[in-house]
Amino acid sequence: MAEHTSEERLQALEQLRREALHSGSPRAVERHRERGKLLARERVELLLDRRSFVELDVFVQHRNPNFNMMETRPYGDGVVTGHGTIEGRRVFVFSQDFTVFGGSLGEAYAQKITKVMDMALRYRCPIIGINDSGGARIQEGVVSLAGYADIFFRNVQSSGVIPQVSLVMGPCAGGAVYSPAMTDFVMMVEQTSHMFITGPEVVKTVTGEEVSFEQLGGAHTHASRSGVAHFTAADERALIEDCRYLLSFLPGWNGEQPPWEPPDDPVDREDAELDRLIPDESAKPYDMHEVVRRVIDDGEFLEVHAAWAGNIICGFARLGGHPVGIVANQPRSLAGVLDIDSSTKAGRFVRTCDAFNVPVVTFVDVPGFLPGTSQEWGGIIRHGAKLLYAYCEATVPKLTVITRKAYGGAYDVMGSKHIGADFNFAWPTAEVAVMGPDGAVNIVFRKELETADDPVARRAELVEEYREQFANPFTAAERGYVDDVIEPRRTRPALITALEACRGKRADVPERKHGNIPL
Ligand code: HXC
Repeated sequence: MAEHTSEERLQALEQLRREALHSGSPRAVERHRERGKLLARERVELLLDRRSFVELDVFVQHRNPNFNMMETRPYGDGVVTGHGTIEGRRVFVFSQDFTVFGGSLGEAYAQKITKVMDMALRYRCPIIGINDSGGARIQEGVVSLAGYADIFFRNVQSSGVIPQVSLVMGPCAGGAVYSPAMTDFVMMVEQTSHMFITGPEVVKTVTGEEVSFEQLGGAHTHASRSGVAHFTAADERALIEDCRYLLSFLPGWNGEQPPWEPPDDPVDREDAELDRLIPDESAKPYDMHEVVRRVIDDGEFLEVHAAWAGNIICGFARLGGHPVGIVANQPRSLAGVLDIDSSTKAGRFVRTCDAFNVPVVTFVDVPGFLPGTSQEWGGIIRHGAKLLYAYCEATVPKLTVITRKAYGGAYDVMGSKHIGADFNFAWPTAEVAVMGPDGAVNIVFRKELETADDPVARRAELVEEYREQFANPFTAAERGYVDDVIEPRRTRPALITALEACRGKRADVPERKHGNIPL
């Protein structure tokens, strides 16, 4: 073997590294760019703080002998992996490179991903995966299926320990969708990202339905119909910015508190508008977003699942600089009832907050669960139970404000004192009761109304009586089910003080392998 000087070795390394840091063929790169997509490394550079990216495994190559594959062995094997920082906090990343073998996943590629997943878990840092891939590398057969399974297994090992975020920036098909699906957040780019188990062609063959990529599994579909996507953005840069923002509410792992930021918004700020926000007629809608915005720091709210199950609002905000998860019924949508989708959405969100030490603040205005065969046959019992289970199970600080209706089982579910909430407040407009006045009077006084001389007048009288008796917060306050009835204007200071009081919360949980949430 020829002798080489150190200088020559350094030059060779430099040359090799330059070669290794290339994406796919010029043709593949051009096609990629024509679609308005960024390259795998460009995405990572944008995601991470400037110059913080440390790439690993740039010299990895596949060893697959099938189909003359050994003739093409690009460095990196089609995925970029490593670590860097976001706002100074360490994260691990992988970014699939569609310009190399269509971003398809083979043995070496999967090993690169599982290596950074293992590191992220070992060093207790979030992991962010950027997905843009044709799926299992066909030429590698079962080895690529094994690679996916290795990733799935790690997704579950890391679940609830470190935050896992999936950015979908291209195709993500077949079983490959299950890695993003098991992470905490799925973020999709409009028009250029697609997720489905089987694509439009297979759908047409099997069911006869004709559907486009976008309709079947585009960002809009998953953000508004299936609930698979938590966030979408118009382009890749905006999505990456949203991902950085999302992480600002989460700790690096479940042993840390989420990052406090000194608040600009005074902690004792009152808002007189809140005193007039609830309409006098109990059935009239109002925008719960408005309530949330007026209470949280600077009105800054990162809504999760904004386009899905709009009858419940979930999202992150800060109170006195502390990250909190907000869950709020939305009277503007389906009168704020709980149904299958809203229960699933909020149940998942409460569990995510609980896993990562983010206190849950609940705003309640709920007339109950949605009646009807589609809900009953669709399993509202099972799905509603998820939300109830999630609230009961959560040991993070839980604060609740009843703004208006808290009826029936939904009263219990929505962060009631009985299922472990720490501080419960009610506005004077709160109505805490088994059901609304009309329904209650129909049931309890049916016989009397049938024989009344003037049923309409008698009915009105009884409704008024019921309202006096039950449709107020004081029967609940009398028993300590709410800790205080507060002027709406004082909601922000009341919540911040309550949060300070219970931030050191330690909850005893019974020893068990794991609970059995109704799935
Ligand atoms: C190997 C692949 C590939 C794959 C794409 N390529 N997918 N190579 N294995 N799975 C290659 C193509 O041959 C092509 O190579 C290059 O990547 C770009 O692909 P195009 O088809 O030209 O790109 P485009 O027109 O943009 O279409 C993208 C696509 C399509 C929609 C993703 O490539 C496609 O349908 N691929 C197959 C998807 C699929 O069925 N995968 C298996 C899913 S099942 P050249 O050399 O021509 O540039 C799965 C199971 C996971 O993944 C299991 C987990 C349990």
